Amino acid sequence: MIFPDAEKGSRFVAGEIARTIREKAARNEKCVLGMATGGTPVLLYAELVRMHREEGLSFRNVVTFNLDEYYPISKTAYQSYWAFMHRHLFDHIDIDPANIHIPDGGWPKEEIKQHCAEYEKKFAEAGGIDLQILGIGLNGHIGFNEPGSSIYSRTRLVTLENTTRIANTYEFENISKVPRLAITMGISTILQSKRILLMGWGSKHAIIARSVEGNVSEQVPASILQQHNDCTFVIDEAAAADLTRIKSPWLTGDCVWTPAMTKRAVVQMSLKIGKPVLSLSADDYVENGLSDLLVEKGDAYEINLEVYYMLRDTITGWPGGKPNAVIPAHPERSEPHPKRCLIFSPHPDDDIISMGGTFMRLHDQGHELHVGYQTSGNIAVTDEFVTRFIDFAVGFEEMFGIDNHKSQEILMAARKYIADKQKDQTDTREIRSIKGLIRRCEAKATCRYVGLTDDRAHFMNLPFYETGTIDKNPMSDADVKITMDLLRRIKPHQVYCAGDLADPHGTHKVCLEIVFESLRRLKAAGEPWIKDCWVWLYKGAWQEWDISEIEMAIPMSPDQVRKKRFGIFIHQSQKDMVPFQGTDSREFWQRAEDRNANTAELYAALGLTKYAAVEAFVRWHY
Ligand code: F6R
Repeated sequence: MIFPDAEKGSRFVAGEIARTIREKAARNEKCVLGMATGGTPVLLYAELVRMHREEGLSFRNVVTFNLDEYYPISKTAYQSYWAFMHRHLFDHIDIDPANIHIPDGGWPKEEIKQHCAEYEKKFAEAGGIDLQILGIGLNGHIGFNEPGSSIYSRTRLVTLENTTRIANTYEFENISKVPRLAITMGISTILQSKRILLMGWGSKHAIIARSVEGNVSEQVPASILQQHNDCTFVIDEAAAADLTRIKSPWLTGDCVWTPAMTKRAVVQMSLKIGKPVLSLSADDYVENGLSDLLVEKGDAYEINLEVYYMLRDTITGWPGGKPNAVIPAHPERSEPHPKRCLIFSPHPDDDIISMGGTFMRLHDQGHELHVGYQTSGNIAVTDEFVTRFIDFAVGFEEMFGIDNHKSQEILMAARKYIADKQKDQTDTREIRSIKGLIRRCEAKATCRYVGLTDDRAHFMNLPFYETGTIDKNPMSDADVKITMDLLRRIKPHQVYCAGDLADPHGTHKVCLEIVFESLRRLKAAGEPWIKDCWVWLYKGAWQEWDISEIEMAIPMSPDQVRKKRFGIFIHQSQKDMVPFQGTDSREFWQRAEDRNANTAELYAALGLTKYAAVEAFVRWHY
């Protein structure tokens, strides 16, 4: 089932859980639920808490069994799944604590087998799991059953794959602190549940397609769920992107041949069979499931030309429009020139990483360019890195005999706090501020490197981000107000923002929602400049737009690629093994270069000019 967004999907799952609980309660029966943790079910648990508070949903007849737990870990550690479940759900509902079961990360190793067997016995005695909630790992794991787990596996101690440890690093500050082992229900255990709802949002699109449409294989544990007779995948539109019916709807039924759909079909075919667009023949159309399109349009070459021109017209070296030139199909207006442009950068380095070439061009082509740094990015600075700066500040004061009591007090306290910091402790406000300052200085240095004066960098410090932990608050009016104020001050003709709906930790997504909401409110308020304000979306560090979606493609020369690389290097606090990289172990500059070179190669493969690199944008209409 595909829902417009994670919120609506979560609401559906919460509704199913509530229905099951109530049906069971009406029959005076216990309702046995299998629970998952991770980023995926956070909205689900929030909705269940809301239903409990506002709609009287009671959990008195509910018995829960969690899928898994890190090993070893103490219950009280912030990252333990025990703590997660209490924080997000159990502390806020009326469940009997005796009915909560979570594998214990403190079981002595030699007793684990016995405890696991007892764990299984408990839910068998409770009548089996009525409804099991699952998330899915980027590698296809369910619970912590990594690829290769046997279809016969039961609850047991397992070793986590490195990719899983990297993916979950965001919970832990850095990879070395992520446990190597976990206790998990087995695949066979999961398959015994009466009903299964697997949830998956945004970034899971590729593995969801493999799990649903690929062969059943122990190498993709979630694919084994195809053999269960009551299992539903509940996903959002972003996570559905790679399913055939979404990606290539002409292969699964009738489709309306809009220009965008024609472009998508032809681009996919051209890349799949390795032939440039203008070389595609009528036979190619027939052999690749596009005879329908051919029938409708009549001639293969006409379709080829139509798509070729659409692709060609996206390419421009003038992201702010070409002055004094009338180019009808140009992606941007030539007037006014120069334009006022505002780049929103969710973290302090997204501007240079994701659109560094365009950033430099906009400045070099004379536009009034501003950057709005939306969050402080402070949690992505390591303790080692901040200690180096604290040492510098202390050394500076000693060197010049500065005797500032307040400053020394802050620095000493920060240094001591970090030296004594425990695994699950969050940073003090002062340390977070120093970490934020480090990133702010890096962003300023990048702006200067591009050629901007300091007054063009606006540090917004949006409050939703400032929790000190990986869990961020949802967007609030305060975030929107700060954003509206900046927009009102600059009155931009162009706004660039990170169009990421699949950001693994949600920051980009919230940043985008805040910009959208601010623009909508300004439009509703009838601000005169807003009708001339166009919005261009770039993708953050994780993905690129699909080649057929791109509406503006900015080519880069080899020199510009190098200049962008050095701009990314300025962000020293993010170099090497930064804490929040997701599953990709390449550094940011490598990912940016690979991605921009790849877009250039795809354009060339389609039969257009081959550039060294290309940055890509999609326009958002509001
Ligand atoms: C968690 C679990 C895991 C997660 C999966 C996805 O209890 O069993 O299988 O569901 O790793 O994690 P998130 O939701 O953080 O993307």
